[in-house]
Amino acid sequence: MILDLFSGVGGWLCALPPASPHLGIELDQQAAETSKAAGHNVIEADVTGLDPADFPDVTGLVASPPCTTFSIAGSGAGRMALEQVLSAVRGNTPALDKQSTRLTVEPLRWIRTIRPEWIALEQVPTVLPVWKAYAERLRGWGYSVETSVLDASAHGVPQSRRRAVLVASRLGAVRLPEPGPTTPMSSVFPYSDGRTQRSNYSGSAPDGARTAQERGRTIRGLSQPSVTVTRRSPHWQFENGTLIPFTVEECGVLQGFPPDYPWSGGANAQRLQIGNAIPPPLAQALITAATSPIGRIPRPPETRVGIELPKPLVKKLRIAAAHQGLSASALAAEIIEKAVAR
Ligand SMILES: C[S@@+](CC[C@H](N)C(=O)[O-])C[C@H]1O[C@@H](n2cnc3c(N)ncnc32)[C@H](O)[C@@H]1O
Repeated sequence: MILDLFSGVGGWLCALPPASPHLGIELDQQAAETSKAAGHNVIEADVTGLDPADFPDVTGLVASPPCTTFSIAGSGAGRMALEQVLSAVRGNTPALDKQSTRLTVEPLRWIRTIRPEWIALEQVPTVLPVWKAYAERLRGWGYSVETSVLDASAHGVPQSRRRAVLVASRLGAVRLPEPGPTTPMSSVFPYSDGRTQRSNYSGSAPDGARTAQERGRTIRGLSQPSVTVTRRSPHWQFENGTLIPFTVEECGVLQGFPPDYPWSGGANAQRLQIGNAIPPPLAQALITAATSPIGRIPRPPETRVGIELPKPLVKKLRIAAAHQGLSASALAAEIIEKAVAR
């Protein structure tokens, strides 16, 4: 079974081969409704309140955790949140005060227990250092891992949308998807009436950076990919100066969904669901990369170390390892790894 944590409207689930056994977990009722109406199996639940051991048949895990406080690149609060998350991923477990920061570490809790065959993760570009820290831990657990920032427009999506991604497999060596040609808006909107697209970015920016309003709106022609789709709709701009907002359906299409995708809730909720989603063509490229390893995993060199432990401690170690579905030596290696990272 494929498990999608924070499954939203089901961008990852749309990208699975037909009839793949899957389960999405999503807190927001309306996003879950959309995904269910599209035919996905979804439970409405808080990911942090579930025990991964209750999901034993998971072979693949995908996740796009919610955008975090450190999305506000460069701000003091953002840097502190990032440091906290990196520390937690490396195995030190400081109290992560903000729920939104905690959620970025959540997939690791699931991976550690489930040890799926393959993994694919996606987030905003500022999360790349977190995915790199994930990669270090995952390699220690025997995975081949690649991380990078990819632009969705080079993977079949008619939109410039840069995202930090991680793909991993414990069955063989993974490679990131190769970028293809840029996908223009004309591939989904065959208009020939001279219209252009005008961005509708918000006017806020961190730490005195110039606002989008100060910089002016971005104008894109149909031969280009769309600007990044957020909860705020871009506009069509006509030669006579008329401005018309993109419809919900048009925004969904720019995000790689079919025009008849069954968006649920009011217009604002629908636009938020679209802005949050992973474009299915990008999800498909990442899933293909994670499920098609191309060689053997380069194993890190290992050295046998003789450590004498008191018998009762060995017994405790074996019991703890069995509880976590690990071998005693794998658990011992994790404990040492954490101690060394401190
Ligand atoms: C970045 S979006 C992921 C979107 C999804 N990949 C898609 O294609 O629609 C993050 C999602 O996590 C959900 N979420 C936030 N906190 C959650 C929690 N504690 N448990 C489950 N879902 C949660 C949000 O409602 C949102 O839909």
